Amino acid sequence: MSRASVLEAVASEIKACTKCSLWRNRKNAVPGEGNPNAKVMFIGEAPGYWEDIKGRPFVGAAGKFLDSLLAEAGLLRGQVFIGNVLKCRPPGNREPAPAEIEACTPFLDRQIRAIQPRLIVTLGNYSTAYIFAKAGLPFNGITEVRGKFYQANVLGLTVVVFPTLHPAAGLYSAKYKQMLIEDFRMLRAKLHELGLA
Ligand code: URA
Repeated sequence: MSRASVLEAVASEIKACTKCSLWRNRKNAVPGEGNPNAKVMFIGEAPGYWEDIKGRPFVGAAGKFLDSLLAEAGLLRGQVFIGNVLKCRPPGNREPAPAEIEACTPFLDRQIRAIQPRLIVTLGNYSTAYIFAKAGLPFNGITEVRGKFYQANVLGLTVVVFPTLHPAAGLYSAKYKQMLIEDFRMLRAKLHELGLA
């Protein structure tokens, strides 16, 4: 099966999923989207209001900011894959519950295995905690680990993991906004260094 057909099969399962209770309130599941052959994969936390309505990742205010951050890194949405730890919106945008993460992340694992990215950018605490645990890397909070590149093995793949803040943090704090811009400029340099740009 091609990467695209694996991703389509996973997306169909996600849209029909009832493994945790979040399906009861969803308008749309948000499987994630992008290039099946992406070298760079971005992982957020969970769909918000607009993502639930549209069934697409990062299409609200944080998504608009993510688009400008991608431009800082010299990337277009069509080149990368953008997914989330949870595929359905938690009510009121509350934080993901451990049982929801456990039920949902086998989908993320399958997406990572299908795409085989060279670099994974984790956006915020939840996706960083998840990928760091997979990689066996110690995690003591996003502010401690962010803005550095980690050579890692995730699901048997040799990848560079780059944790940064969640783009939503940049919407309410000028300081975090600046940190995000700096991180994505570092990402641009790294992509050139790795021959991925
Ligand atoms: N925040 C996320 O973490 N993911 C989205 O898809 C949108 C907002």
